[in-house]
Amino acid sequence: MIKQAIIPMAGMGTRLLPLTSVFAKELLPINGKPGIEYIIEECLDAGINEIIFIISKKKEIIKKYFYNDSFYKKIIKKKKNPRIIKEYKKILNYRKKIKFVYQNTPLGTGDAALKTQNKIKGKFFLMLLPDDLIIKKNCSKAMIKVHKKYKSSVMASMKVHRNTVNRWGIYSLNKNLDKNNFLISDVVEKPEINQAPSNNAVIGRYILPKNIFAKLKKLGSGKGGEIHITDAIRNLIKENSQFVGHKFKGKYLDCGTMDGYIESSFEIAKT
Ligand code: G1P
Repeated sequence: MIKQAIIPMAGMGTRLLPLTSVFAKELLPINGKPGIEYIIEECLDAGINEIIFIISKKKEIIKKYFYNDSFYKKIIKKKKNPRIIKEYKKILNYRKKIKFVYQNTPLGTGDAALKTQNKIKGKFFLMLLPDDLIIKKNCSKAMIKVHKKYKSSVMASMKVHRNTVNRWGIYSLNKNLDKNNFLISDVVEKPEINQAPSNNAVIGRYILPKNIFAKLKKLGSGKGGEIHITDAIRNLIKENSQFVGHKFKGKYLDCGTMDGYIESSFEIAKT
């Protein structure tokens, strides 16, 4: 059973400047709701009961968002506004499930994951990258089903335009398992177009085995000087750990770039 999820949030969000110069991108509203709430809802709906937020001292505002009790209590006492009461209750409910750990230097997704090592209890856990919103279908829920079926690690996959491969982790496919799932034989972080093994990209949903932490500890920095989860996954695959690529059904929204962020509000408004 997968009951824990981790969410790296210590990144600086430079792709969304100037919005992120004083604000955490995970709290930016998407159609009137902080992006991170969509991710929390996806987790809870998928049966996750503990979500570990990896933040940094510079992003304490994320913690404050969930712990602003005296503010809410004062307002509610004065105004007795049902909408505010409802929102406050929602936040109280979310925070029962959330734990915080710190990554004060943004050294990449792999380094972020490593900060949660002592908190992970089960053999597998879910990791979600909050820039990647997937709407209309719960991708995490579908991946947990695939994990149960194939008893393996799972990663979300989507075909991308060939000339954008150097923006993504890219899979080498071994063989198809069924219509929506394939065995992965390798994965490369942001390859150049002439070195990309396919145009099947990693999207930010991963079901990872606990033994990835041992691999992460030994890992040096990779592309762009960061420690990438992709490189640790690659090492696990080399040692015959089974990873399945799952072609998810929902609609992907890239909220980590300005164009994608703007578009995401429109797309969600349409649903
Ligand atoms: C990260 C991962 C990359 C993946 C992407 C999906 O990159 O490192 O493998 O394809 O998320 O959004 P980032 O977006 O942090 O550059």
